[in-house]
Amino acid sequence: MSIVLGIESSCDETAAALLRDGRRILASVVSSQVQVHRDYGGVVPELASREHVDNIVLVVEACFKEAARHGYSQGWQGLDAVAATCGPGLMGALLVGMTYAKAVAYAQRIPFLGVNHLQGHIGSIFLDHPQAEIPALSLVASGGHTNLYYLESSGSCRLLARTLDDAAGEALDKLSKLLGLGYPGGPVIDGLAPLGDPQAVRFTLPRIKAASSSGVDAFSFSGLKTAALRHVRLNQLPSLKPQDAEDPSRIGQPLLDLLAGYQKAVVDQLIHRLEQGLSSGREVRAVHLSGGVSCNSELRRRATEHFKSRGIPVYYPRPALTTDNAAMIAAAAFRRLAAGESDPWDLPADPNLKV
Ligand code: KG4
Ligand code: ZN
Repeated sequence: MSIVLGIESSCDETAAALLRDGRRILASVVSSQVQVHRDYGGVVPELASREHVDNIVLVVEACFKEAARHGYSQGWQGLDAVAATCGPGLMGALLVGMTYAKAVAYAQRIPFLGVNHLQGHIGSIFLDHPQAEIPALSLVASGGHTNLYYLESSGSCRLLARTLDDAAGEALDKLSKLLGLGYPGGPVIDGLAPLGDPQAVRFTLPRIKAASSSGVDAFSFSGLKTAALRHVRLNQLPSLKPQDAEDPSRIGQPLLDLLAGYQKAVVDQLIHRLEQGLSSGREVRAVHLSGGVSCNSELRRRATEHFKSRGIPVYYPRPALTTDNAAMIAAAAFRRLAAGESDPWDLPADPNLKV
């Protein structure tokens, strides 16, 4: 039996999780800083670091308490390893989680592991779906990343496409900010878009040239935001307040149509690239969706429908495991631990870490 404590602090969530044998989540606690960053319409790095410092001890304590309710009573002594996200992410924020995790591992004389946040998202699929097939197309779509990988049978990943500019979640966050609907925009737009007509305001797929010399294709979302801004100005659409999201009758049909068309455009592009990944002749036995945007109802529904006709199953984690969490970090660490790996005390944080 093996117990891994995972810590995640790469962006605006301070999270801790205890995982047994790489699969069973004994506890997963996520403290969101959304309220702190809301007024700024996005994450303020220095504020994020300070919040992590204030929260991390409380979050880990809460995690042990939750695990105790599920029968885990060994406390610190029961840990076999401690893992923390070592990148990509905000430097100050990463350092808080890593320093904390190293200190615990050092004091307990157990291994420390630094985990790539993207590897965490990619592997999050297997927490809920251990049977998910590979080789697979694995899309990580979040507020900071839109990466499409080919997950090979060996478990290694090849990057097939990444965003040239904004991430998919960032595109949703930016529209929400532009309209005054607050941060984060993804869940707000997900909730309101079904009330609009997705055909009323049309956005075209960006024209992106075929694979570059590096062989990596591109997503692009920044043009969408500019087109939406132009639409708002041309049609003199009113600005909103975050509270309006709770009462859609205050929003008006033209804005609901804009939200529906915009969300459709984001999903269209994600599915278009997945489709291209499929038609390239590689063996693909499943599609895996992870990261905060994989919580999106339209993406889940349309991807499932689209690939069903090809006999390809689509997997995504339960909502609590799509957005940033530490269970996925502990799970990724467990796989490395099982392979006999651990990291040195001087492992640095790397804000630009690649898979
Ligand atoms: O994975 P995550 O928690 O953090 C990053 O690693 O970036 O993803 C956060 C992103 C935000 O942009 C948020 O707006 C988006 O995920 N998001 C959603 C939904 N829930 C969160 N986007 C669309 N639909 C949702 N239901
Ligand atoms: Zn993430």
